[in-house]
Amino acid sequence: MKKTLALALAVVMSLGLLAGCGNSGEKNPGSSGSGSTPNTSASNPGGSSNPANSIPEAPAGGGTVGVCIYKFDDAFMTTYRNSLEEILEGKGYKVTVVDGNNDQAKQNEQINNFITQGVDALIINPVMTSAADQIITTVKDANIPTVLINREPTAEQMAAYDKLVYVGCDARQSGTMQGELILDTATGGDINGDGVIKYIMIQGDPENIDAQYRTEFSVKALEDAGKKVEQLNLTRGDWDRNRGQEIAANDLAQFGDQIEVIFCNNDDMAIGALQAIQQAGRKVNEDIYLVGVDALDAALNEVQAGNMTGTVLNDAVGQATAAVAEMEKLLGGATYSSGNQSVYVDYVKVTPENVSEFMK
Ligand code: GAL
Repeated sequence: MKKTLALALAVVMSLGLLAGCGNSGEKNPGSSGSGSTPNTSASNPGGSSNPANSIPEAPAGGGTVGVCIYKFDDAFMTTYRNSLEEILEGKGYKVTVVDGNNDQAKQNEQINNFITQGVDALIINPVMTSAADQIITTVKDANIPTVLINREPTAEQMAAYDKLVYVGCDARQSGTMQGELILDTATGGDINGDGVIKYIMIQGDPENIDAQYRTEFSVKALEDAGKKVEQLNLTRGDWDRNRGQEIAANDLAQFGDQIEVIFCNNDDMAIGALQAIQQAGRKVNEDIYLVGVDALDAALNEVQAGNMTGTVLNDAVGQATAAVAEMEKLLGGATYSSGNQSVYVDYVKVTPENVSEFMK
């Protein structure tokens, strides 16, 4: 009886996966709690073209894993790689984590070295999304089970190799949540009440889909709520705190009180922007709003202190856990069918009301 129920559940979940994330171009980020975004628990049935009940158990640890990170000098990816290392080591794997120094050629070499060393599996955070085809060809030729993280290739690219899966988040959801954080403020973002929300956008690396979607969907959420918006400036800050500070300082000098909202594609840039806001004598949540993404510890502190309007949890531990789980399925012999190679972890809105739940 129990077995039948489990099998039925596995079938329902597989169908859910097919419907939920068949094609990365068709995902709907929805808004918080809409249920339209696949989440890990629901979209993680094995992702396999094999029936879930026929996937052999992965060997219990003991293998070697190569982890490639696009660069170590990135606040969010530092939390992420530390979690990955801890989880993998905790499970008995021998892990080597390497720094790509934001250089795709260097990362290609690192991947080749891992292959020569004969690692059992790879977890790769590509430097450039545009390098996905090359990375996928390399790992396929070497027949190494591979989990891509943080920078999502297209479903078509991933379809080239059935021992490949992507674990990440749907960045549209984080953008939508940033917009909602602004809509939920006392003035709905229109501090001076002139009927137009004027903002600046501090963007991550524009080659990165997270930067593209957060930029687009944060503003779309305002427009979808019927608000008029005006972008005063958009500048790439490459996810970097110092760049966030410089850009915000320049924009505050140029546009002054006209700026009502500063959207930052991530928290590290938002923390930098906050320094500029404070230097300019402005006060967050009184005469300007500021939002980021990631829920870095520093940002959580600022949200609690009222110095950031809010942020969005980019769940590093959840993604690291899911990445290792998918890797173990691959090691156990699972394969992924085309269109079913993405596993998503949900973002969560962080406000002064719920921030304490996220603080360690
Ligand atoms: C994003 C994250 C950024 C940065 C980027 C690197 O998901 O929000 O802070 O780490 O990944 O690709």
